[in-house]
Amino acid sequence: MAFLPFALPDIGYEEINEVIDTLESGWITTGPKIMKFEKAFSEYIGSKYSISVNSATAGLHLALDAIGLERDDLVITSPYTFTATAEVIRYFDAHPVFCDINEKTFNIDVQKLEDLLKKLCAGKNHKVKAIMPVHFAGQTCDMNEIMSLAQKYNLKIIEDAAHSLPATCNNKMIGTIGDITVFSFYATKSITTGEGGMITTNNEAYKDKMSKMRLHGINKDSWDRYVSPEASWSYDIIGAGYKYNMTDIAASIGLQQLKKCDYFFEKRNKIAERYTESFKNLNRIETPFVKNKNDKHSWHLYVIKVKNKMRDKFISIMKEKEVGCSVHFIPLHIQTYWKEKYSLKPDDFPVAYSCFCEAVSLPAYAKMPESDIEKVIQAVIETHNKIFS
Ligand SMILES: Cc1ncc(COP(=O)(O)O)c(C=O)c1O
Repeated sequence: MAFLPFALPDIGYEEINEVIDTLESGWITTGPKIMKFEKAFSEYIGSKYSISVNSATAGLHLALDAIGLERDDLVITSPYTFTATAEVIRYFDAHPVFCDINEKTFNIDVQKLEDLLKKLCAGKNHKVKAIMPVHFAGQTCDMNEIMSLAQKYNLKIIEDAAHSLPATCNNKMIGTIGDITVFSFYATKSITTGEGGMITTNNEAYKDKMSKMRLHGINKDSWDRYVSPEASWSYDIIGAGYKYNMTDIAASIGLQQLKKCDYFFEKRNKIAERYTESFKNLNRIETPFVKNKNDKHSWHLYVIKVKNKMRDKFISIMKEKEVGCSVHFIPLHIQTYWKEKYSLKPDDFPVAYSCFCEAVSLPAYAKMPESDIEKVIQAVIETHNKIFS
């Protein structure tokens, strides 16, 4: 049997034909397919505005730019994330302040967040500007609590929703809750455009700023300059912007992927149920904790905990059994740059560190046929029994 990769995109002829249509149309950069994709995305999420970008990292950067982040400002986020979440804060010479996570959900611990905010926001001229919750694996953070803390301390909420399409919290779609939310369409994400991302917001001023800053700070996109009925050669620059726009080629893939988003979700959800049921008697493996069954967990990742310091051995035996696994995440505070920049030690965020030591992400994606799901289940059971019997 062939090696089962940890993740694979599910691209069909719908995406291929839509790309061909775009290539043949003569308009391949930001244009009509982008407009269609953004409109469809807003309808899907229920947000007022959607702004496509060429990565979630770009989207997070634009979001912080839109809220006016400045040098030496502070942004609270989780250390249990991909470096993109925090690196965009450094683009401004501002600083992330990490807050430890909950050991069950891997999401920011709201009690610790409250304690941290009490301390950091004590003075009148405090520097905290925003909270960036990360919905790890697709399970949503405690948004009610986070929103009320943000309100209390007058902070903005930028949600890192790279993992959480589609997901809900208290019956609200992620993408409609915080001030700005950013989704990723990287190759392994729940829908993909190869590379890409989408920002959602209900705030018109943020939308205006981000849609201009994503394209050099030009007050018109190329569609407005060349094609629309009111097209004119003239434009103005409103800021030192970035080259973060998505192409119509990528949007073509996104348009068709979005139509399959619910179907992909159902498949991942079923895989998660199968895994959790199949592993329930493995006493050294902890299956993912689901905080609230009424909230939609996107199941972008299915992360188990392997006990007794056997995580690395578990992954290498799984590899021998031709099943690819991954680790999400190596927490930021033990990565060289962050560790050195802020003199951090593993114990500074003990929960994040201990979650990392046990975490294994199993293959769980829409393209897996029944035989692959069964292969993963058998491999996990056999590996568990081999290590722990
Ligand atoms: C939590 C999180 N945030 C942000 C990103 C960045 O996404 P992108 O690759 O689209 O820039 C990722 C990518 O994996 C991620 O996992």
